[in-house]
Amino acid sequence: MVRIFSFAAVAVLFASSAAAAATGRGKCGTTLTLPSELESKAAEVVKTHKLKIASMPSGSRAASRSVPVNWHVIDDGSKGKLTSAQIAEQLRVLNLSYSNASMPFTFTLAKTTRTTNSDWFYNAFGGTSQESAMKSALRSGGAGTLNLYSVDLSAQGLLGYATFPSSYSSAPSKDGVVFEYRSIPGGSLAPYNLGATLTHEVGHWVGLYHTFQGGCSGNGDFVSDTPAEASPASGCPKGRDTCSGGGLDPVNNFMDYSDDACMYAFSSGQATRAAALCNQYRASV
Ligand SMILES: *[C@@H]1O[C@H](CO)[C@@H](O)[C@H](O)[C@H]1NC(C)=O
Ligand SMILES: *[C@@H]1O[C@H](CO)[C@@H](O)[C@H](O)[C@H]1NC(C)=O
Ligand SMILES: [Zn+2]
Repeated sequence: MVRIFSFAAVAVLFASSAAAAATGRGKCGTTLTLPSELESKAAEVVKTHKLKIASMPSGSRAASRSVPVNWHVIDDGSKGKLTSAQIAEQLRVLNLSYSNASMPFTFTLAKTTRTTNSDWFYNAFGGTSQESAMKSALRSGGAGTLNLYSVDLSAQGLLGYATFPSSYSSAPSKDGVVFEYRSIPGGSLAPYNLGATLTHEVGHWVGLYHTFQGGCSGNGDFVSDTPAEASPASGCPKGRDTCSGGGLDPVNNFMDYSDDACMYAFSSGQATRAAALCNQYRASV
């Protein structure tokens, strides 16, 4: 999704920080560079981080994995104080979007922490000292525990960023998803306020790339049943076809950049890829 919200000028600025934050190393046959994901149109810059799965199980649907969630609520003293009802509703939507789209994961709240810290609340972008300090202080659990940090990312016009499964071993304390507290269901960031930002970011956390990864050529997102896309979609451009021959753009896929209301799908190939990567890298809870 344009998991950026209309601060157009910011995307340019962001290109350099996306590149700079491209750290993390995964091993899968060969050594690959796997940057943590940073959300913006400029994240297209980060299109070299590709991981080939040596042997993906084919055909059989993987058993559902139960993911414990630690939600770290950051606030500035007044803004950001999500209620437990808001947290429960966002996790209900996350659970529902995964099960409705046949993604083999369920999510259960294990722990909520609450921290007042304006610096973390407004400045926890990928690669910053605020990100490191916040995560070092709050993160808990193993590779299979999902740590969420709800903050305000408006200074960079972002909706969220996430780390990939293969990045865990080299930077365990950085693992997780940082996202805009106003993107939750009923939040103020319309048209990104139905909860799909978290669904999308968790899609990265289980190992998925954007559907527009790599544009029209090459391996794209390394999933064969998501037609290639030349660029991120925005709004809900049903029927769009930016790469000839591969089928219509998957604008309803959670790993595109469409509006929340437009997104409801993961493909079967994405489910297979996510299950394989999590079996490989997120075995320990
Ligand atoms: C998600 O679904 C699982 C399985 O149905 C359930 O056990 C769990 O409580 C649900 N979590 C939330 C937050 O709704
Ligand atoms: C469930 O998936 C169908 C398509 O398979 C979609 O039309 C519907 O909007 C989805 N519902 C939810 C709640 O995501
Ligand atoms: Zn993304």
